[in-house]
Amino acid sequence: MPRSLPDTVLIEWPQSLSQPAPDTERALDRAADLLRHGGLVAIPTETVYGLAADALNATAIEKIFRAKQRPATNPLIVHVVDVGMAQSLAAEWPAAAAAITAELWPGPVTVVVPRGTSVPDTVTAGGATVALRCPQHRLTRRLIEKLGRPLAAPSANRSEAVSPTTAHHVLESLGNRIDLILNGGSCDCGIESTVVDCTQVPARILRPGPISRQILEEVLGRGMVMECDRLSRRVGLQAARAPGQHARHYAPQTPLELSPCAADRVACLLRSGKRIGWLTTQTNSANARLLAQSRELVIVPMPEEPVLFARQLYATLHAIDQRGLDAIVVDAVPDTEAWQAVRDRLLRAATPAPAIATGES
Ligand code: TXA
Ligand code: MG
Repeated sequence: MPRSLPDTVLIEWPQSLSQPAPDTERALDRAADLLRHGGLVAIPTETVYGLAADALNATAIEKIFRAKQRPATNPLIVHVVDVGMAQSLAAEWPAAAAAITAELWPGPVTVVVPRGTSVPDTVTAGGATVALRCPQHRLTRRLIEKLGRPLAAPSANRSEAVSPTTAHHVLESLGNRIDLILNGGSCDCGIESTVVDCTQVPARILRPGPISRQILEEVLGRGMVMECDRLSRRVGLQAARAPGQHARHYAPQTPLELSPCAADRVACLLRSGKRIGWLTTQTNSANARLLAQSRELVIVPMPEEPVLFARQLYATLHAIDQRGLDAIVVDAVPDTEAWQAVRDRLLRAATPAPAIATGES
């Protein structure tokens, strides 16, 4: 494992160019070469940055688990360039997987299907299923094409920490544990893909994400997709049924709380001498007053629209964590379909650390 910091290569591919520039091709060739030799490369995707290794090389996969300090019981998502590559990794191709992949790939949705024999045990944590995703980010698509093999890639952060949405976040979190970081800019969605278990009928959402239940229902038909258990009500059950879906995840170092009356809560914490970061969608006189009263308060205005909120969420948590504050307060977000993915991430980030490791990453 390398001890020095990895190279972070900026790879640009302007929308106006149908083919990448020679420099970009060279960076991708270098990444493909490292992966071919069992290396670890951080890759940009439209959701969050991934920590990639050749999915069919069990030794390389073990390096991912070591670098992230991820428990071997938590399976990885395998990234493919098209449906054909996905099918080569599956023992069966359920109707739900066929419909989702035909309509929504490439894109931020992962299908869980029966696992094919070529997939190493380490990838699936010994399970009978494999999670497959076809990313939209064209740099990563080009990389998989060049390699000609699928890439296993969890989010490129240490276990339980906030996922990275920039190359800089990856460098900070995994530093000297990886070989190369491909810097493809900020991630567009900002939160991880929706994960759908297609091995059962109706299909079941294991992790809410950018592709909503409503979109999945349009693709699969009414009643053909079960919502994941609402975290607010069923944390324990959900954790037991879906590997890796433990309560605490995506958590900054600074304790985070969600509050339905955030202005009052912030005022109360400030009175007790705490230094606070407040993520708020309200821009009104109450927070202006609080700000004027205290130098111990950092107010971060957040978008009122859930897709934009999601895009900014992790970058904001990374930035505010650097300030060494006592607490982060976030306005409670609505318990509606449109906010479900953001709400899930916030509730997990707000869950206190347990006495033993949960294994989420
Ligand atoms: O957007 C994403 O999905 C990002 C980017 C890099 O593609 N990846 C990502 O990977 O979020 P990770 O490892 O951080 O989260 C994958 C989730 C975990 O909760 C894992 O337990 C679950 O998917 N998962 C993986 N394989 C599974 C399987 N066979 N059955 C059920 N859940 C699975
Ligand atoms: Mg993760």
